Amino acid sequence: MLKIENVAYTYKSKYQTVKALKGITYAFEPGKFYALIGRSGSGKTTLLSLLAALDLPTEGQVVYEDKTTAEIDRDIYHRDTVAVIYQSYNLLPLLSVMENVTFPLELKKVPGAKKIAEEKLRAVGLDETYFKRLPAMLSGGEQQRVAIARALASDAKIILADEPTGNLDTENSEIVIDLLQKLAHEEGYCVIVVTHDLSIADKADEVLKLKDGALADS
Ligand SMILES: Nc1ncnc2c1ncn2[C@@H]1O[C@H](COP(=O)(O)OP(=O)(O)OP(=O)(O)O)[C@@H](O)[C@H]1O
Ligand SMILES: [Mg+2]
Repeated sequence: MLKIENVAYTYKSKYQTVKALKGITYAFEPGKFYALIGRSGSGKTTLLSLLAALDLPTEGQVVYEDKTTAEIDRDIYHRDTVAVIYQSYNLLPLLSVMENVTFPLELKKVPGAKKIAEEKLRAVGLDETYFKRLPAMLSGGEQQRVAIARALASDAKIILADEPTGNLDTENSEIVIDLLQKLAHEEGYCVIVVTHDLSIADKADEVLKLKDGALADS
């Protein structure tokens, strides 16, 4: 479904070049929960941004359903195929919980946005008592669940998350991870989570360990 083939990535500036990824090959499948681990600077975020097609590899290719991310229409890929979840929840502070989830749907002119949003919010355990609140009136775990509901409201079947529990306590972290795991196992999403937390990695179907930009035995 989503493959990386001999992917390398080099950051080049006037002063220095950094080889962040050094020729990685891997195939991701739907219905699985992947953990991407490795020390700070090992290339995790770089790899995630290539999978999200926010950037293109400097060598090799990222292939989604037989087309490389260099060939596809990346706007459509961002809109319909991948959803990215960040450590800081990236909610719009002046919009309510409900509006945060309906906003991207309305941009796409999806009919029944409110109904879809309501369903997704309930799926992450947020009922109508939350719908009208602003993000600032929620705990970190609740905010992250809104961000997940927003991701689910798109048609994306690939969920990429960079330290989604980095700001959460153990309990909320578990809720969020269980939710992501369930989405993979019960709904067939391909879920790829960058994490420092080895208890999360324990729950993953596959663990990819990056070491200095290369895959290492985990
Ligand atoms: N914009 C950039 N310009 C130059 N070098 C960069 C840039 N972003 C990252 N790097 C370098 O690329 C390498 C990989 O960085 P990356 O952000 O992918 O690591 P990471 O595994 O996500 O680390 P962390 O766990 O700290 O988030 C590091 O050596 C980093 O310094
Ligand atoms: Mg990172």
